[in-house]
Amino acid sequence: MQKLIIKGGKRLRGEISLQGCKNSALPIIAASLLCGEDCTLHNCPELTDVYSAARILNCLGCRCGFSGNTVMVDSSEVTGTEIPEVLMREMRSSIIFMGAMLGRMGECTVSVPGGCELGPRPIDMHLAAMRKMGVDIREGGGRIICRAAGGRAKGAKINLSFPSVGATENIILCAVTADGETVVNNAAREPEICDLCGFLRACGARISGDGESRIVIEGQLKLTGCEYSIMPDRIAGATYLSMTAASGGEIILKNACVQDMEPFLTVLEQTGCSIYTGGQNIYLRSGPRLRAVPDRIRTMPHPGFPTDAQAVLMAALTVADGTSVFEENIFDCRYRHTDALVKMGADIQVLGKVAVVKGVSALSGACVEATDLRGGAAMAAAALAAEGTSEITRICHIDRGYEKFEESIKAIGGEICRV
Ligand code: UD1
Repeated sequence: MQKLIIKGGKRLRGEISLQGCKNSALPIIAASLLCGEDCTLHNCPELTDVYSAARILNCLGCRCGFSGNTVMVDSSEVTGTEIPEVLMREMRSSIIFMGAMLGRMGECTVSVPGGCELGPRPIDMHLAAMRKMGVDIREGGGRIICRAAGGRAKGAKINLSFPSVGATENIILCAVTADGETVVNNAAREPEICDLCGFLRACGARISGDGESRIVIEGQLKLTGCEYSIMPDRIAGATYLSMTAASGGEIILKNACVQDMEPFLTVLEQTGCSIYTGGQNIYLRSGPRLRAVPDRIRTMPHPGFPTDAQAVLMAALTVADGTSVFEENIFDCRYRHTDALVKMGADIQVLGKVAVVKGVSALSGACVEATDLRGGAAMAAAALAAEGTSEITRICHIDRGYEKFEESIKAIGGEICRV
């Protein structure tokens, strides 16, 4: 098993060009199934989750080819309607293939994506929405068998009880080729939803309102192939900015989605960092010590503070002057990284959905195990700020979301290697 060795305590300084966004690459790869033609996707990050999505397409009979950050998908032939359980378990977001398969084939067999990384991640909203669109769903023995009446889903009015990102994506994927109009109320407004809709529009889909709470989709009989460039990854951006801030350094983040990162940048600025944006660049300079964030940091659906950036910002705030308070409102079990940070000397008290972080004068290197993707990145951020050497194991979690992780950190002067 590979691990990361990090020698901390250095002031990070340099430039990083931001990778393509994992959370839009995955639904867009699933969406390419709907085209029935060639699709070329640029700026696709080279990540294990992306390869898992390609394996799912291959197993359905499509062909995927990779050339650096470009993925070519030929979905002209589809030979299967079932995703084997082993592939469903590889990646939690495999569930977004449900909408795409229903949209293309009118039927699919999937399973509940397994594991517990961030607490229970039910798919009740996904299933209720598909049922509303005329899909018959039978569950048994861990399998979910879905069949649209007459082979084509029907447009429907869907009111989500919570703006779930995955459920919104599944509805859109099923609705773009459904019979009639679909309206999604209380839809997720994340930038990745807009990226998915941008791709689908490039394929001829009729969608409006993405980025707002009410999305309207007019079903089309057929979509076409297209060439599309995936947006930059705002969470990878938040990670490298947090790392640099914690080390008292400076960074130019290139190819960033500045506007989409504003909810994060607004909070980061309160730590006393100087942040300047221009075009697609973000420049950050941090003083020798960060300040605690005075207001409670509440994770919320976009445009609130992103839950995916909670762990990495927390790592930075462990060495700030004063006390910061986090409130995690999206996932039940998203403080699993705190034990590792405490092992490195952080002072963090968790009580239910609240975490109180009292800044300490310094962290010290330790051997820790990545608990999940963003939690693992937070441990790397803490290790870079800490005095001494740290070892991070179970880095398969980090590889799910960060492209060229060590290279990027080395580019800003961090001492890191994989053994
Ligand atoms: C996506 C992102 C993830 C991010 C999250 C919230 C991808 C691949 N993953 O995850 O990185 O942290 O959005 O921004 O894009 N829920 C239900 N029932 C459902 C669906 C969701 O109760 O049917 C709950 C979940 O348990 C969770 C909350 O709703 O508590 C938010 O989940 P959701 O927005 O669906 O997140 P994901 O799409 O899984």
